[in-house]
Amino acid sequence: MSLVRRKAIYAVAQKHNLAIIEDDPYYFLQLPEFVATSATSTAAAADGTTSTTTNASAAVCNRPQILVPSLLSMDIDGRVIRLDSFSKILAPNLRCGWITAPRYILDKIQILNETTTLQPSGVSQGLISKMLNDVWGMDGWNAHLQELRSVYTRRRNIFIQMVEKHLAGLVEYSVPMAGMFVWMKINFGAAAADQTAMPRLLDAMKKCGVMMAPGMPFSSNGLSPSDHYLRAAFALVDVDMFEPALARLAQAITGISGRVPAASSDAVKASLIVPTSTSLAAVNSSG
Ligand SMILES: Cc1ncc(COP(=O)(O)O)c(C=O)c1O
Repeated sequence: MSLVRRKAIYAVAQKHNLAIIEDDPYYFLQLPEFVATSATSTAAAADGTTSTTTNASAAVCNRPQILVPSLLSMDIDGRVIRLDSFSKILAPNLRCGWITAPRYILDKIQILNETTTLQPSGVSQGLISKMLNDVWGMDGWNAHLQELRSVYTRRRNIFIQMVEKHLAGLVEYSVPMAGMFVWMKINFGAAAADQTAMPRLLDAMKKCGVMMAPGMPFSSNGLSPSDHYLRAAFALVDVDMFEPALARLAQAITGISGRVPAASSDAVKASLIVPTSTSLAAVNSSG
């Protein structure tokens, strides 16, 4: 979310005296602009098997100033409750994070915790504490986050290029500027009105070994099961599996829609779909 939009949201909250819950687990995964990246020369770096950063976007993402200021940072009234998570930036499924809020709110949350979940997992807390305090320290933590942004930037760029190569015209998508997911809307063409198109596609994907999350469960406004969205994660799968998986997805879509991919262009053209929040968040790993 841009700084302009964040400021506008904060202004609305001020005007109507609203509290804001800033649930922002992808904050530290903000990524620079997309630039075409050579898949062959960067596969190892994208997998994190080397920390060498050779392309411009990776260098840019190492600058701390690419992080758009949080709503919390502009809060002058004590109306922002900020939620961060280690699940996306340290290890998936830690299910542990931190809350930044005015003291009187934290006290209430503490009581709520004690009377409901008791605590996030003690094992997760112990691991995180050990890593941050005794192993990495602040410098190590910052270096880890920068490395993560570099790796995800390369992965995102390669994934987008493969989408453009194999799915041009078959999907609409937006280039994510944070996080680890690419949202795609399937263009079923004449089959778009067919309520069975999406279930058949999900079935075909299962058969050809492509796993992405259907969009419907993420909707807060009751989209129907046939809504044609998929969420792909580029964080986990080997980079060299992107291309064969997306080629199989293209075949699956063609099998249902009868449409074939358009000739891919050299420059990636992101045809933007409805704005999705980075908080809409999983191909097979959600963190
Ligand atoms: C927007 C958003 N908030 C919160 C969470 C949960 O994070 P945690 O793993 O710390 O429970 C997720 C994870 O999927 C998420 O996408």
